[in-house]
Amino acid sequence: MKTIQFSRACALGLAIALASASLSAAEAPVPLPGQSRDAFIDGLMQRMTLEEKIGQLRLVSVGADHPKPVLQEEIRAGITGAVFNTVTRPGIRVLQDEAMKSRLKIPLFFAYDVVHGHRTVFPIGLGLAASWDMEAIAQSARVSAIEASADGLNLTFSPTVDIARDPRWGRVSEGFGEDTWLTSRIAGVVVRAYQGEGLDRPGTIMAGVKHFALYGAGEGGRDYNTVDMSPQRMFQDYLPPYRAAADAGAGSVMVSLNSINGVPASANKWLLQDLLRQQWGYKGLTLSDHGAVKELIQHGVAGSEREAVKLAIKAGVDMNMNDDLYRNHLPELVKAGEVSESDIDRACREVLVAKYEMGLFHDPYRYLQGRDPVDTDAEDRLHREVAREVARKGMVLLKNQGDVLPLKRQGTIAVIGPLADSKRDVMGSWSAAGKAKQAVSVLQGMQNAIGDRAQLIYAKGANVTDDPEILAYLNEYNPDVVVGPRSPQAMLVEAVEAAKQADVVVAVVGESQGMAHEASSKTNLRIATSQVEMLKALKATGKPLVMVLMNGRPMDLRWESENMDAVLETWFSGTEGGNAIADVLFGDYNPSGKLPMSFPRSVGQVPIYYNHLNTGRPFDHQNPNKYTSRYFDAANGPLYPFGFGLSYTGFSVSDVTLSADKIGKDDTLTAKVTVKNTGKRAGETVVQLYVQDVAASISRPVKELKNYRKIMLKPGESKDVEFMLREQDLRFYDSNLRYASEPGDFKVYIGLDSQDVKEGKFTLL
Ligand code: BGC
Repeated sequence: MKTIQFSRACALGLAIALASASLSAAEAPVPLPGQSRDAFIDGLMQRMTLEEKIGQLRLVSVGADHPKPVLQEEIRAGITGAVFNTVTRPGIRVLQDEAMKSRLKIPLFFAYDVVHGHRTVFPIGLGLAASWDMEAIAQSARVSAIEASADGLNLTFSPTVDIARDPRWGRVSEGFGEDTWLTSRIAGVVVRAYQGEGLDRPGTIMAGVKHFALYGAGEGGRDYNTVDMSPQRMFQDYLPPYRAAADAGAGSVMVSLNSINGVPASANKWLLQDLLRQQWGYKGLTLSDHGAVKELIQHGVAGSEREAVKLAIKAGVDMNMNDDLYRNHLPELVKAGEVSESDIDRACREVLVAKYEMGLFHDPYRYLQGRDPVDTDAEDRLHREVAREVARKGMVLLKNQGDVLPLKRQGTIAVIGPLADSKRDVMGSWSAAGKAKQAVSVLQGMQNAIGDRAQLIYAKGANVTDDPEILAYLNEYNPDVVVGPRSPQAMLVEAVEAAKQADVVVAVVGESQGMAHEASSKTNLRIATSQVEMLKALKATGKPLVMVLMNGRPMDLRWESENMDAVLETWFSGTEGGNAIADVLFGDYNPSGKLPMSFPRSVGQVPIYYNHLNTGRPFDHQNPNKYTSRYFDAANGPLYPFGFGLSYTGFSVSDVTLSADKIGKDDTLTAKVTVKNTGKRAGETVVQLYVQDVAASISRPVKELKNYRKIMLKPGESKDVEFMLREQDLRFYDSNLRYASEPGDFKVYIGLDSQDVKEGKFTLL
């Protein structure tokens, strides 16, 4: 893969500040040569009034609540800390100019949801994770940082590292899946890629890891819902990714909207102080989520806004996002002695430290150097090549009966489905600064791939959904799902006609981007009826049928898995999605993605995840027994397991060889397999290592991912893959939350997904 050059960003950084910057940096408080950061901030804080300090705790967005002229005035009055959702250099400069007119000229910082790309949109979190390719994921984050900082942004509200095991929750799309180990790795990689060698360097932005904590574990998969969890599960499974992000130096943490065992995160002193700051040693800024402080009233822990503010600031929420509660109530709370000035100082200091680290005190216009682009959306500001490369790495081939894929560039190919020609949907939900017009639809991508060597015919075939209530919900704020004037019947007839003329049919179906977003929980994981009816009609033509799935969550694909000839999971793959999908469909890229979440057989099975505990009565497929842990109306286990994904070639895995059958506390065990490419094409696969602690003081998962290796093999080629295991890899949180290993028997599993594995055993002495 082409390495991203920082040169463009560096050039920007080194360029002379534009004359259009209406005020020079020299007027702002500038650290003196040799002065330490803390001395500078101490000095500054001594000059600040209480109102100015409280002002620094406001993180606001221009909008109905804060019309631009009012906000500009507030910035001039020195009572605003930061602004989010302003994403162009002129827009940012105007506001920074106002800050430079305030009494102390403390610069603002600018934040935005750069979640899976900025101007160039990359695959959603699940799609990135499905690549199991840390360099590709890092590239996507580096490009995001380069593009976002070039627009003047200083902080992103990402990465989202919430472990999610319930696909009813729409925000599973944003995170990296169900596995703790994989998500923790990605968390660290993304934070380091955003922040680079330091935030004072060009092309970097501060990470804002979210949502702290356990946001992905809301009951019933309903957004914002209650989280009630044992401390063991919390520490073992859900907290490590946040910790990995904090350890990687994430400059900020966004506090989640949910409660945890009865205490909302935004009022949770244990979470924000005892755990985050004391135990983990986190030194950085904490941000509330949107309106979260006020929500403490609805949570039922505060009787008034005033009380909500008191709880939040005392718990350790430094900045308050987008409401004026801190500003309205903190002065009086301090006066009444209910909040001490040191609480305000502590929070204010974090904001100022963040600004210092961003280099804004050295130059408030640091991120605005160089010439403004004539066109913010100019084509040459995009990083298409990397986007395409990353997108195709995350696609997962779920079925390929009779090798219907890859497609040949010949004959007639019918491309059918409501998502086939959509540029908006392919980008996914948090593609806020990306422009749909710059995205490549599947239809366009396929057309690009075949040129005039084959004929493409297109029919929409169905609406994403015909359910009027769902349409009304999805279109409440934006016209996201366009329903054309033609009747479903007319579209179906046209689609069948197109299929009949074709040699092969590619059906592009799934979810519209808004179906897998914040506030998009659902109880039905099947593809919408309108689309399934279309698939049935296409199936009836008897033509080879390839389903390209575009979606943001594991779905119930029971019918499709039996009736489609091939199924390609493409997630929402970003600006270059259509080209990347075509690369895979035509075999220019051999798919190597692996699922980062289990796909259930039905919604009734969720939550379903591979690393569950055993029961006293585990179900045994070989010897099914009534009085075991099972459903009587459905099979146990997922339809497609965690870690699963096919290739256009085949791989075999040998038995596991262990370097010893017993290891001491200081020893290293080597587990080895030989993987062979048994097919006719070169291809990559992900060799996965899982471990099970057979008998411990508390029940341990049936298996847990401990490592993996992504390898490329030529046809017929074999490679030995070795993993090292040490005592540290076997530690867990026991019933007293002690993190330690326990001597005894362990199993090692190695395979190409979490189910189809080879086994070995050893004893930890
Ligand atoms: C979301 C956050 C997001 C914030 C700002 C909230 O509603 O929960 O993930 O960062 O809005 O856009």
